[in-house]
Amino acid sequence: MEWGMANRLAQLIPSDGRCLFMPIDHGYFQGPTRKLEKPGRTLEPILPYADAVFVTRGVLRSSIAPDNAKPIILRVSGGTSMVGADLANEGITTDIDEVIRLNASAMGLSIFVGTDYEKDSLLNLSKLVDEGEKYGIPVMAVTAVGKELEKRDARYLALCSRIAAELGARIVKTYWCEGFEKVVNGCPVPVVMAGGPRTETIFEVFKFVHDGIQKGAIGVNLGRNIWQDDYPVAAIRAIRAIVHDNATPEQAQEIYDTVKNEQAAG
Ligand code: 5RP
Repeated sequence: MEWGMANRLAQLIPSDGRCLFMPIDHGYFQGPTRKLEKPGRTLEPILPYADAVFVTRGVLRSSIAPDNAKPIILRVSGGTSMVGADLANEGITTDIDEVIRLNASAMGLSIFVGTDYEKDSLLNLSKLVDEGEKYGIPVMAVTAVGKELEKRDARYLALCSRIAAELGARIVKTYWCEGFEKVVNGCPVPVVMAGGPRTETIFEVFKFVHDGIQKGAIGVNLGRNIWQDDYPVAAIRAIRAIVHDNATPEQAQEIYDTVKNEQAAG
């Protein structure tokens, strides 16, 4: 692997081989998502516990101080909205020159396998990988967002993840599911897990993150279940312990409760 590519991947994934990416990109098709109305304010307390931030160029420029940043994964696909005709009809939104100018450590793009725009999104991924490889910038492929999330099963997610890896993604972001080992075992590049919409309890998140890590995921790209929680610092510190310190879900819950009680008291 070229030095630049290896260096950027090392910025994103610390030496233990695990990572906690913090996605705050949701506005690119959802608008002002709950608790992300002011992304800078939401990010500030949790940033110290993230290994990288997944964000669009607009929010990066407007809401993240360049002298207090973590490695950036730039969201470079979009062009659709919640109220538009089809969320799957994304294009590449950001030129490679801009990605370099913004000193991004990686680029992220969604693919929509099984939709009318499957081919377009997969060819977008291929094009982006070609551009990224020229300059040593890794691509993280984002599988199955929006309506496609309804197909949250191992067969579908393994299919999406493998295709993303075959087309050259250096990291694949997918969802945890029952039988998650099938997804990881069929994917020759590192896999990170998203969280999806809020779960009923934070303990559910601890359980699936722990299970996914045991089954071979290298970490998470997990947003709403952290920053929409009433105690986001407690949530991220607990999830960080599972990812980086092999904490069990029960130990994570203890960390969560301790930090929450400290914050509630102070
Ligand atoms: C949608 C994304 C998010 O980065 C991804 O879904 C992770 O966030 P969450 O844990 O909130 O699902 O690609 O914009």
